[in-house]
Amino acid sequence: MPNVFGSPHKGTEPRHEQVVFCQDEASGLRAIIALYSTALGPGLGGTRFYPYGSEEEALADVLNLSRGMAYKNALAGLDHGGGKAVIIGDPNTDKSEALLRAYGRFVQSLNGRYYTACDVGTYSEDMDIVARESRYVTGRTVAHGGAGDSSILTSYGVYQGMRAAAEQVWGSPTLRGRRVGVEGVGKVGHRLVDLLREDGAEVVICDVSEAAVGRVLERHPGVEVVADNDALIRSEIDVYAPCALGGSLDDDTVPILNAKIVCGAANNQLAHPGIEKQLADRDVLYAPDYVVNSGGVIQVADEIEGFNFDRAKARATGIFDTTRQIFVLAADEGVPPAVAADRLAEQRMSAVGRLRGIWLS
Ligand SMILES: NC(=O)c1ccc[n+]([C@@H]2O[C@H](COP(=O)([O-])OP(=O)(O)OC[C@H]3O[C@@H](n4cnc5c(N)ncnc54)[C@H](O)[C@@H]3O)[C@@H](O)[C@H]2O)c1
Repeated sequence: MPNVFGSPHKGTEPRHEQVVFCQDEASGLRAIIALYSTALGPGLGGTRFYPYGSEEEALADVLNLSRGMAYKNALAGLDHGGGKAVIIGDPNTDKSEALLRAYGRFVQSLNGRYYTACDVGTYSEDMDIVARESRYVTGRTVAHGGAGDSSILTSYGVYQGMRAAAEQVWGSPTLRGRRVGVEGVGKVGHRLVDLLREDGAEVVICDVSEAAVGRVLERHPGVEVVADNDALIRSEIDVYAPCALGGSLDDDTVPILNAKIVCGAANNQLAHPGIEKQLADRDVLYAPDYVVNSGGVIQVADEIEGFNFDRAKARATGIFDTTRQIFVLAADEGVPPAVAADRLAEQRMSAVGRLRGIWLS
């Protein structure tokens, strides 16, 4: 059983403010909402609908994901803390109007401490249904005042992070003339290819879906396709952009990676702690995943103010400066960028969160 209360010593283990178990037997809803920190504002993070093997597995996932959101939101410059929810079940067979609305009532019961959004297994149309029971829902369809597909600003943010990494390694913030390998050309990956081609980069891709590869080739016949991720990692690429699932960088892949930069959209790219050090030892610059993929959460957070694409895009452009700041801090403190990013996020949570101590009548 995961240790929900964690350690009282800051930074040694996840310490969550609140974990809520939600059940509605008739609709089959079994959900857990976790709030890691509300130091910067209400928690914001998506709802994952997934057939977890056990309640323990679901709890461990939501604790981990909500903590990740606190760090991501902090470095995205948002006034949001870290929250996340999981619904236990198969989204293909267990999802229903009643279940989503029951879930919405639990979100509403937190009275704005937690804002939800889409994640694996949930879509904007689902958020429209959840929003019939709660005011605290983002990621809604454009028809309902939402921002729509968050992959637009996610890919844009990854591209900004990659420009910052290129500047750090080659002295100029462009991918022109570089060879970029994109693993996974789904919603985010295929848009990233558009941006890279526009910038003048050569692009190599791989994807398990022929349809996804076909869509890219139709738009960019010059893009090279390799069989799988192993072939991509072994190929002569300057930048590796993991945009499929997590865990692409592990003890097997890091030693054979040719790229000088790793920068992609996938969450949790490092298979285990210590990989960031292995990358640094091989002189590979790693742009921390949660920093460069925050364009999506920036996009949905903007809905709370009444969605304005230009305002959200301007904020996502800031990912360039944040990534650059992390590389500078990493160099100054002699730590890998992943460690520098965590430190910067903790600094903002502490410096801004502390202000709540100033009493307002
Ligand atoms: N969509 C967003 O706004 C957003 C925001 C932040 C992070 N992310 C993360 O970015 C990643 C991509 O998200 P997405 O929305 O594009 O998802 P997606 O499902 O649309 O695309 C993923 C693509 O990866 C491919 N893929 C799966 N396994 C593969 C493998 N072993 N090798 C090669 N390709 C493989 C799939 O076929 C698919 O085309 C995910 O890890 C997601 O968590 C997405």
